[in-house]
Amino acid sequence: MKKHIHIFDTTLRDGEQCPGAAMTVEQKVRIAMQLEALGVDVIEAGFPVISDGDFQAVRTVAERTESSRVCGLARCVEKDILAVHEAVSPAGDRGRIHLVLATSPIHRQYKMNKSRAEILAMAVKGVSLAAGLCREVQFSAEDASRTEPDFLAEVVEAVIDAGTSIVNIPDTVGYTMPDEFHRLISYLKSNVPNVDRAVISVHCHDDMGMAVANSLAAIRAGARQVEGTINGIGERAGNTALEEVVMAVHSRPDFFSGLETGIRTRELVKTSRIVAEMSGMAVPRSKAVVGANAFSHGSGIHQDGILKNRSTYEIMDPEEIGWGPTELPLTKHSGRHAVKMRLDALGFSIPEEDMPRFFELFKQRGDRCKFVYDDDLSDMARSMLA
Ligand code: KIV
Ligand code: ZN
Repeated sequence: MKKHIHIFDTTLRDGEQCPGAAMTVEQKVRIAMQLEALGVDVIEAGFPVISDGDFQAVRTVAERTESSRVCGLARCVEKDILAVHEAVSPAGDRGRIHLVLATSPIHRQYKMNKSRAEILAMAVKGVSLAAGLCREVQFSAEDASRTEPDFLAEVVEAVIDAGTSIVNIPDTVGYTMPDEFHRLISYLKSNVPNVDRAVISVHCHDDMGMAVANSLAAIRAGARQVEGTINGIGERAGNTALEEVVMAVHSRPDFFSGLETGIRTRELVKTSRIVAEMSGMAVPRSKAVVGANAFSHGSGIHQDGILKNRSTYEIMDPEEIGWGPTELPLTKHSGRHAVKMRLDALGFSIPEEDMPRFFELFKQRGDRCKFVYDDDLSDMARSMLA
């Protein structure tokens, strides 16, 4: 049987931290319902202590969902933990308290003004309190990738002993590299004695464009929960784009053998559109998997290959991701084969001997416009046949 990679979606918490992406409770609930249809394992719906709106969002998502776990973020302080507990309580056993505490020397010194021993004590105290309230507690060592590995291992061991069953290793500032992150996760897997009592999770930011690569490297090192957002939205340069991780695992079983996610991939495009609409964060056309151009082929050579066999230039089946049947856009780069196919589809049959002249007119049109649309092509065909 395949091992499950848990997909933890934080579009409604870290995604919303993207300036300009703040959402109302109704908008968050709309997204949460779609995330559940997509099959994510965990929905992080907000940070309840920061505002009434966030508290309400977590609580309403906890009430309305049925299968996904619902989680809220808390610092390792009592009032945050109690607020999350109350907000997720309608979800019953599906509720999770997510604790975060910075562990790196930079954060300890400048942000927390605390020693290693003080951080360790805070982490244990927070987890113990949360574990007494909620069946599932997750602990995140903020800025883990810049934390001394021996101290990180000490923290991970202590929080597992205190009752957490999911330990998250964030690359909070998008600093790490795939090989390095693989080494860090492997190090924890072999140096934390009780590590098998918890799921190791990762949470990567995209400051150097490495979030997805780092998450995939971590999976190969044994991480079994990946956190991220739909469309990769989030703080600064954003988070791991979950649709990319899911499709990489799905499309490369040779790299991720024996592993699967529970994601219904056909819901990905719809989910991406809903998130873009609710958050106001448009999806770049060239975005992998869900961008409008992800399965759009421009050059004549590529279009010709696609018309002969889609696998020449497509490594994923667009319909499996939720795209409808795709059409090849006609541009000045298109070749004869693609133009002829579109003419046939539009119901025009240009005699073979007229095709060179037609193709020349097509190229002239392409030089003047970004696309040669069906109407233009039809007008050109009508005048040639007149
Ligand atoms: O980036 C980060 O470290 C976080 C934590 C709350 C997991 O968002
Ligand atoms: Zn984050």
